[in-house]
Order: sequence, then structure tokens, then C-alpha cells
Amino acid sequence: MTGSPLAGPPPSPAPSWTTALSSAGGVKEFPPGSPPVVRAPLGPSGPFTAGSQSVRGVDLGHRFTGTDWLFRGLDFELEPGLITGVCGPSGCGKSTLLWLLAGWEKPCQGRVERVGVERIGWVFQNPHGVARRTALDHVAFPLLARGLSRRRAEAEAEALMAGFGLAELAERPFAALSGGEAQRLMLARATAAAPDLLLVDEPTAQLDARTALTVSTSLGQIAASGAVVVIATHDPAVRAACHRVIDLGAVP
Ligand SMILES: Nc1ncnc2c1ncn2[C@@H]1O[C@H](COP(=O)(O)OP(=O)(O)OP(=O)(O)O)[C@@H](O)[C@H]1O
Ligand SMILES: [Mg+2]
Repeated sequence: MTGSPLAGPPPSPAPSWTTALSSAGGVKEFPPGSPPVVRAPLGPSGPFTAGSQSVRGVDLGHRFTGTDWLFRGLDFELEPGLITGVCGPSGCGKSTLLWLLAGWEKPCQGRVERVGVERIGWVFQNPHGVARRTALDHVAFPLLARGLSRRRAEAEAEALMAGFGLAELAERPFAALSGGEAQRLMLARATAAAPDLLLVDEPTAQLDARTALTVSTSLGQIAASGAVVVIATHDPAVRAACHRVIDLGAVP
């Protein structure tokens, strides 16, 4: 890895997921396969400026009634164009941190600041869909909600599905998809909603390595389009492919 900082707008097509980033934005450079643990405040701006939104955690901590602190004193800033991994062992609070970022749970300590975030996309750990609706309907729906005609929505949905390796499954009812197919469908649906902030919980848990790579590449493209992307993951390959990592296993 060279030491030269990246600067300017995101390259097109999407930057490689394994691109190491400049220290100018507060992100330390790292060799491939070992992204940095974010333990300190990050700078105000990184090298990618496609979107104008940001999500900041300030002295963030959380515990549930009857549990110890899951994490405390987290300071970070998430910027458009960057993929942040939330890592650590089962039960350390990865999903909880995503809930805090979405504003669905109020932190016990500190705060989450969201600036310019109007649409939040979620891909849950367990994919939920409408059993009898086709795969295509699931992806077309957010496009229809955004005002596209049915014809355009279905055409765009088909293109998105192809990007997630689902081209052959458009007419298949949701109930007849495998776990991995359903998970990729949820990613395609979240992409169709064009979120400012995309929160993804364990995106590759049910996928083989090759399919997981497809998902990783697609998520990289979503980030490069200007979304803030946060991924909770156990998967070392996904962790290695994130621009930065919040390692809850390393938080005291
Ligand atoms: N509503 C709740 N009330 C009490 N405890 C909770 C609640 N939600 C989660 N917890 C506990 O908080 C801890 C963190 O849960 P969380 O789901 O965030 O972990 P995780 O890191 O996402 O785990 P996994 O990798 O297994 O998905 C767990 O011990 C869990 O049992
Ligand atoms: Mg979880």
C-alpha cells in the first residue's frame, strides 16, 4: 500500500473495497486485510464527498436493563462513500449500535448526530419478505414509492437484481427463495430505496464466499454513490473489505 493520500471525489466506478484511505480525514492507513480499529474521534471530512450527510457518535454508550455496558465512550464520524464495519463477538452489541445509529433506540450515554439523513435503509439479520409476492415485487416496491412508473420501476428492479446475482429469480415468490437469495434480495430492495444511510446486519452470514464477494462489491457501489454504509459482521472477509472498523470487541 502506498502512503499517498487519496483526494477529491470518488473515482468512477466505485473505489475498491480494499482501498486504504488517507490519514487526512482522520482514517489511518492500513495494510490490506487489517483495517483500523476506530477508537478516537475522526476528522470532519474524508476523501469522498458524493453525499453531504454524516452520522456521528459522540461519547456513545449503551446497556440494557440487567446487562453490563455493551460499549462506552465511542466517538466516530461516518461519512458518505465509506463503508464502516461494526465487528466483535456475538452479543457485544453490534445490532444494538445499528439501532442507535438509526435512532430506534436511545443511547444510555452520549448521543448520535445525523446530519442530512432523510432515508435510512435497513437490511436485517433475518430477511423478512411477503411470502407470496415475487422477488421482483420486493425490489420494485421502493421504486414505485419513489414515484417511478410500474414499467420503469420493474426495469430498474431487474437491473438491480442482476447486480446481486438474482436475475433468474424475478418471478419466484419470496417464500421459495433460499436464505442467501432472500438476503441478497433484501440488499437489492434496500439499494432501490436510495438511502442516505444504509445499515446492514450480517449481510453474508448465509452466503458462500463467492456470493459474499458479489454482495461486498455491490455494497461498495452503494457507498460510492454517496450513501453512508454501516455493516455489522462476524465475517473476516467483510471486515477486511471495510474502509474502517468499529471493533466493539476491543472497546473497554
Ligand atoms: N431489548 C433488550 N433487552 C435486554 N437485553 C438485550 C436487548 N437487546 C439485546 N440485548 C442483549 O444485548 C446484548 C447485545 O445484543 P446485540 O443483538 O446487539 O448483539 P450482537 O453483537 O449483534 O450479537 P450477534 O452477533 O449474535 O448478532 C446481548 O447480550 C443481548 O442479549
Ligand atoms: Mg446482531
